[in-house]
Amino acid sequence: MDKNWYRNMSVYQIWTRSFCDSNGDGIGDLPGVLSKMDYIQSLGVNGIWFSPIYPTPNADYGYDISDYMNINPEFGTLEDFKKILDEAHKRGMRVFMDLVINHTSDEHQWFKESAKSADNPYSDYYIWRKGRGKNPPNNWLSVFEGSAWEYNKDREEYYLHVFAKKQPDLNMDNPKVREEVKKILRFWLDMGVDGFREDVITFISKAEGLPNGFPLPVATGIEHYKHGPHLEEYLREFREVQNEYDCFAVGEGPMTGVKDAVKYCSDGKDKLLDMLISFDHMNADCFMADWIKTPFSLKKLKSAMSSWQNEMYGKGWNCLYIENHDHARIIDRYGDPKYRRESGKMLAAMYFLQWGTPFIYQGQEIGMGNIKLDRVEDYKDVLTFNNYRLFKKLLHFSDEKFLELASKVSRENARTPVQWNSGENAGFTTGTPWFKVNENYKEINVESQENDPDSLLNFYRKLNAFRRNNDLVVYGRYKEYYHSSSDLYVYSRKRKGERLLVVCSFREKPVRFKAPKDFDLSRGEIVFSNYKDLPHEGNGFVTKPYEVRVYHFK
Ligand code: NOJ
Repeated sequence: MDKNWYRNMSVYQIWTRSFCDSNGDGIGDLPGVLSKMDYIQSLGVNGIWFSPIYPTPNADYGYDISDYMNINPEFGTLEDFKKILDEAHKRGMRVFMDLVINHTSDEHQWFKESAKSADNPYSDYYIWRKGRGKNPPNNWLSVFEGSAWEYNKDREEYYLHVFAKKQPDLNMDNPKVREEVKKILRFWLDMGVDGFREDVITFISKAEGLPNGFPLPVATGIEHYKHGPHLEEYLREFREVQNEYDCFAVGEGPMTGVKDAVKYCSDGKDKLLDMLISFDHMNADCFMADWIKTPFSLKKLKSAMSSWQNEMYGKGWNCLYIENHDHARIIDRYGDPKYRRESGKMLAAMYFLQWGTPFIYQGQEIGMGNIKLDRVEDYKDVLTFNNYRLFKKLLHFSDEKFLELASKVSRENARTPVQWNSGENAGFTTGTPWFKVNENYKEINVESQENDPDSLLNFYRKLNAFRRNNDLVVYGRYKEYYHSSSDLYVYSRKRKGERLLVVCSFREKPVRFKAPKDFDLSRGEIVFSNYKDLPHEGNGFVTKPYEVRVYHFK
């Protein structure tokens, strides 16, 4: 059995609610996904990751699960899911579920029971504590907003919620909870699912005694759970179950540096995760969190990417991504919407050709952009509303100023309906879409790009085709050049006698590029570019806006 199949894989992420609606209720669903299987396959990916599709009251759009072994009725049924699984497998694609076990919904049966009393079978499924007088048990603040503790009148105790108050944290120290997790793993693996993306998995073990944390505006206490004392032990238990199956696991690790990631992801029999979703490279235009915006720094981006490329190499495996449901659209962040196609292609080649397994988030492949809403009420997400209150309270933001910021940084920018065509509601639904469709759908949609050989969509297809079974791209060693340049990102991949040289300009202005000394451009074949006219000047060239060129040397 080739346990390393995930290395040759590329993955498409589906956030079902906004993908494709089959029944006109304005909400994307599984039959909608099923109707797009040909499309997904046509991208050349061989894996699909579903953001949570379980029953949920939608306090955090699925990341608050009320039943782990079923499908959100808004999305369809288990039968619908099995059809997708079948179709995917027939097409040589694997399917991954989102495993959210740091917390459940407060509407999960376990929590409802747990909240009833301190002496029932579920009492210790969550983290309950007495308050300190009128105050919560400690000073922890939620990652979203406000205290991380919520008082429950029935139990006369507080429960911990690192995220929203409708997302109580599970008590992973309770062996019964870990047994439940294993049951969930087996349920899906027995059905044929091929693995998991594990939500905030690095948060599941909390420090003993829950000591006060270093005061911060949000997430106070995070140092006491971001790599808690029993994390590795618990991951090992779950991994033992996973090892009985041919499956893979990618963990989400907010604030996890590459050194820790190497601990979890190193090859060998004690490997706990196959790869980790890093956040470092997503902070090149913000400070720690997307909402604390700073000017884009190419050097920050390069340092983050290069450190994961270099430090993980030969030890474990990287997860490559530039978009998902938690971040604003990348062209509006690191590229330039004026040059949507050009900068979109440049960004695509920049991350896709690095060492690791690339992920593509729905809509990224056509260069979907951020959305500007006129009213705060048009937003839907708990995080946006929390930030609204926070920015008003701490920085006295007007609605207008907040809307301006949200249109740049809110994760809801990535949650607008997928733009399939230039028809009504961008072809997403025949009903009223649950979230506003981006007005630019007439120019940016799948259908128009299908017919255009130079489209971003077809560029992604070419990247996938090029990468698949290409040992140079899959396994080649990464090396960065001109690190101090704030205009160019240049790196090579090398394996045996073969090399790739990837040259990306992050600027509109012309930048003079001279090939690093051991590359003779006249001997390379240009395998990717975003312009037609590709002149050389000596052993280099002067870049056009956001130009990318990828040279292949055999
Ligand atoms: C990370 C998920 O990606 C995000 O969408 C969610 O809000 C938090 N974890 C909490 O589950």
